[in-house]
Amino acid sequence: MLYQSWLFFALFMVQFACQNKQADTEENKDDSMNTNISEATFAKNGMVSSAHPLASAVGAQILKNGGNAADASVATFFALAVVYPRAGNIAGGGFAVCRLQDGSVTSLDFREKAASAATREMYLDSKGEVVAGLSIRGHLAAGVPGSVDGMIELHKKYGKMSWKDLIQPAVDLAKNGFKLTSDEAKVLNRFQKEFKEHNRFELHLVKNQVWQEGETITYPELAQTLERIRDQGRAGFYEGKTADLIVEEMKAGKGIISAEDLKKYHSVWRQPIIFPYKEYKVITMPPPSGGGIALAQLLMGMENYPFKDWGFNQIQSTHVMIEMERRAYADRSSYLGDPDFVKIPTDMLMNKEYIEKRLESISMTEKTPSDEIKEGKVDLIESVETTHFSVADKDGNAFSITTTLNSYFGCKVMVKGGGFFLNNEMDDFSVKPGVPNQFGIVGDEANAIAANKRMLSSMTPTILEKNGKLFMVVGTPGGSTIITTVYQVITNVIEHGMTLQQAISAKKFHHQWLPDEVIFEENTFDPAVLKQLEQMGHLMKPRKEKIGRVDAILVLPDGSYEGASDPRSEGKAIGY
Ligand code: GLY
Repeated sequence: MLYQSWLFFALFMVQFACQNKQADTEENKDDSMNTNISEATFAKNGMVSSAHPLASAVGAQILKNGGNAADASVATFFALAVVYPRAGNIAGGGFAVCRLQDGSVTSLDFREKAASAATREMYLDSKGEVVAGLSIRGHLAAGVPGSVDGMIELHKKYGKMSWKDLIQPAVDLAKNGFKLTSDEAKVLNRFQKEFKEHNRFELHLVKNQVWQEGETITYPELAQTLERIRDQGRAGFYEGKTADLIVEEMKAGKGIISAEDLKKYHSVWRQPIIFPYKEYKVITMPPPSGGGIALAQLLMGMENYPFKDWGFNQIQSTHVMIEMERRAYADRSSYLGDPDFVKIPTDMLMNKEYIEKRLESISMTEKTPSDEIKEGKVDLIESVETTHFSVADKDGNAFSITTTLNSYFGCKVMVKGGGFFLNNEMDDFSVKPGVPNQFGIVGDEANAIAANKRMLSSMTPTILEKNGKLFMVVGTPGGSTIITTVYQVITNVIEHGMTLQQAISAKKFHHQWLPDEVIFEENTFDPAVLKQLEQMGHLMKPRKEKIGRVDAILVLPDGSYEGASDPRSEGKAIGY
């Protein structure tokens, strides 16, 4: 049987992956370099790059068994829901950007929606002030999940293997167990208190002793839920027992998602954002992601400057990138939201003249204060999460998929009897216009809460073509830093001639208009560059936390694939 043979392959590949990651860790000890070198994976026939070696192995085995990139994407998605539960999910949402062998493109929006009982004021107190934490933790923070419907749609449109064979590897992982990676053990230990605080029963993840690397973990209830999804498809999640468990959980925790909300959830096929950048065509996610339009503004704006000559992370290149980011994120905050609810001036925002006009105000000697772009005041960015994976098959079909529960383990509530976490995506709405969310990002009317509306996202799954052929599949987690990370990986390859692995490993920086500061990974800049940027007025803030965890694929000149996973994570690209 297909799903028995994958296990052997997976174990082999994981051992291989862990050896490589050990090498990565050794190499990355020298933190003074801007570009950490990590092991890329090279293969001719197909590639899956994801945040967890086991999930990549599942996807790669599907490709090997004759599945196409859509099949491998579905199998990888469900495997991530088991082995990477901080962000992999069945009760979250996400986006897929798809490019087929024949050059046709589309995108799938399986973003969560606000429940039909959601209101604009649901996170405000009687004085109209935001109740701290209400949109972040607990049942009320959850949006109506889109992930399972998204995978069903993807499979229906593009898949060729049987649905059951694609879900079975995830069932096996959940039922038979798998060994925890060191990072996964650490993350489970870190969230013990929150698991206890936000659940009405003792999760099997809660332990007296700490979780250890190499320890086997199982998810028996999640296995049963996955079996229902395997056997009943959509109805295995949005109706019947799983739906009953979600509604029960909502009632117990004063949540508002109803049986009707679940039943009527549907993902939407959307026309992707497509724009030219030099000799490349970029295909990326439209609203309700703000990522695609912002990426278009950043990359199209770049054509006005000699970035190649300026060089990687030098004074002028960094200053102009910061200034472009400031303007793009200001536009994101003002104009973007759910296109089914608000009219988005996409053509204007992506118009070359508009972009050039915005750039006219960039001074080459000093920063533009953000309150001169638009007023606002926000606090610090909290953390990064979400997960991205990239898949390409032997025929050149490619899928770029980013999915999320929003925070690590979403709202921290596990559905009793279901074994899966609920998202806290409601925090991605502008819960009160002008008040920042957990990423420090502010929104306006366009992203205000309304019943059945989708919340604005930064997720930016992206595919690039060169001369009409597949060139790159890329994406990352990281909340509001997603857009700038994808931007830097693309420019590192195209402007600065890096290999994909170098581009991903390279240190990253980020500016998002508000707060008016530049965050950067330690040792990103040469001290002289840093000093000069400060003299130009930039508030430069190093941070220990990494920026981005990219999983991507590049097509090499001979048509084979370079798969690369971020050394900031334990992910792995696996090909064959
Ligand atoms: N929840 C993160 C995002 O969608 O941007």
